[in-house]
Amino acid sequence: MAAIFQIFRKETSPCEGQKPGTSGLRKKVTVFKQPNYLENFVQATFNALPSDKVKGATLVVSGDGRYFSKDAIQVIIKMAAANGVRRVWVGQNGLLSTPAVSAVIRERVGGDGSKATGAFILTASHNPGGPHEDFGIKYNMENGGPAPEGVTDKIYANTKTIKEYFIADLPDVDISIIGVTSFLGHEGSFDVDVFDSTSDYVKLMKSIFDFNSIQKLLASPKFTFCFDALHGVAGIYAKRIFVEELGADESSLINCTPKEDFGGGHPDPNLTYAKELVARMGLGKGNTQAEPPEFGAAADGDADRNMILGKRFFVTPSDSVAIIAAYAVQTIPYFASGLKGVARSMPTSAALDVVAKHLNLKFFEVPTGWKFFGNLMDAGLCSICGEESFGTGSDHIREKDGIWAVLAWLSILAFKNKDNLNGEKLVTVEDIVCQHWATYGRHYYTRYDYENVDAGAAKELMAYLVNLQASLPDVNNIIKGIRSDVSGVIQADEFEYKDPVDGSISKHQGIRYLFEDGSRLVFRLSGTGSEGATIRLYIEQYEKDSSKIGRDSQEALAPLVEVALKLSKMQEFTGRSAPTVIT
Ligand code: G1P
Ligand code: ZN
Repeated sequence: MAAIFQIFRKETSPCEGQKPGTSGLRKKVTVFKQPNYLENFVQATFNALPSDKVKGATLVVSGDGRYFSKDAIQVIIKMAAANGVRRVWVGQNGLLSTPAVSAVIRERVGGDGSKATGAFILTASHNPGGPHEDFGIKYNMENGGPAPEGVTDKIYANTKTIKEYFIADLPDVDISIIGVTSFLGHEGSFDVDVFDSTSDYVKLMKSIFDFNSIQKLLASPKFTFCFDALHGVAGIYAKRIFVEELGADESSLINCTPKEDFGGGHPDPNLTYAKELVARMGLGKGNTQAEPPEFGAAADGDADRNMILGKRFFVTPSDSVAIIAAYAVQTIPYFASGLKGVARSMPTSAALDVVAKHLNLKFFEVPTGWKFFGNLMDAGLCSICGEESFGTGSDHIREKDGIWAVLAWLSILAFKNKDNLNGEKLVTVEDIVCQHWATYGRHYYTRYDYENVDAGAAKELMAYLVNLQASLPDVNNIIKGIRSDVSGVIQADEFEYKDPVDGSISKHQGIRYLFEDGSRLVFRLSGTGSEGATIRLYIEQYEKDSSKIGRDSQEALAPLVEVALKLSKMQEFTGRSAPTVIT
């Protein structure tokens, strides 16, 4: 064993703008590389935790492998040692998907019986990576979920008064090799345990799903499959699960080698950014793909988001969670004894509400951001939940889970085709979705994002929309002037949520215009951007008439879109004639 390590106290002063957003602190790499920037945030986090969750504790440190992660991991290891942490668990090469981190916190037991009490996750999720792109860091708690607001507020407060941080003079640890490296400090030893990034997560998935039936589906020559990891960390899990465990052909996987810059792309699984998959599946303009696969899926940089596609067919995330919930008990062994309840974020469509009503399930509508689901799950009130932003998951962990969603869909397909694998034609993703609409009605849905808008202009637009809400007659007059074929607004407000578990209240969670026919317009400012402001506009319309459920969604929503853009004076405020992304 090497010489006893020394702990240094370094003087520092606050860095501006370290307020964690919807999902941790996300900034450009150039910002994170400023002197003391990362160190301040890490020390502020240690200082915000109860001392027994730091001193003598076991912490996980890993992420999606984006640029700057390796440097950050070495810094955090040294600061953990200096702050009295007993051991740090690092996924091999610093890789762990966000859902895998959550699984590791909840499930992994060290050789000496140790359990982790928290994690630093190094990711900016679906934001691009590279020297001039984004980096991010967030802290997850003992339940495996993101730190609640009380903790992130404390971290932020600490960043504003920080005067010192602590760091040990350890050598860099080789995180490419599995094994434990021990160091001796004045207060005892400190271990860095580099472990296999996939095994805990794979074990958990095998305990949830019927791998056998999925294997049979994948073995059918009629079933073709394509998974796109967008060069994010999902690739290492896809290889282990889809290829090694379930027997899919290696050629089913695209972009499954993690890259620090995600191959220069935007690792966000939607119709705009998952270009290669979208083309393969026969979607998108001018696509000439002859025989697209039956099933396609993608995950984002840290593998918590997912997109589900059929042959020439897109499943909206709002429909996806509703359909998974509708089939869960029959198709996923983990849910065999029933669902405790279901939940969605406010802007997510009401497709899940209809299923909940039909199946007589507890139902919750929470603000945007996964952390709100965690409380419900910890209290045993919710089994399955989802967001329109390509997030789907369950109470097996406390993060959304991209690979889980893919396995859930494969389970439904396996179930629907179990007696049909040698039949004429498989039941397709499209068949399943259309059947669902025929039973429950269809929620036409789209989201417009205006990225990197001037922050002042975005605030003005939001303020304008709130002011407008004071008089419904005025709102309805304006709407009549825009389109006479759109129904009237019956309620307009800002969404407010009272957590049924801890009673905490979250205000200003999105501006809503609710229409008489069940249609909705929602406006929110993003809390995950790293520059300027992003305005999100969510548009939804419910159709129960089965003769009208097969329309093109943009066409069906065109009148409401027109109302939304004119009512909000979008172009006037932002100077934008079109959104950056439409999903
Ligand atoms: C976005 C999504 C939200 C999701 C979050 C983290 O947040 O809209 O549903 O939970 O990313 O993945 P936003 O940028 O809208 O604050
Ligand atoms: Zn993500």
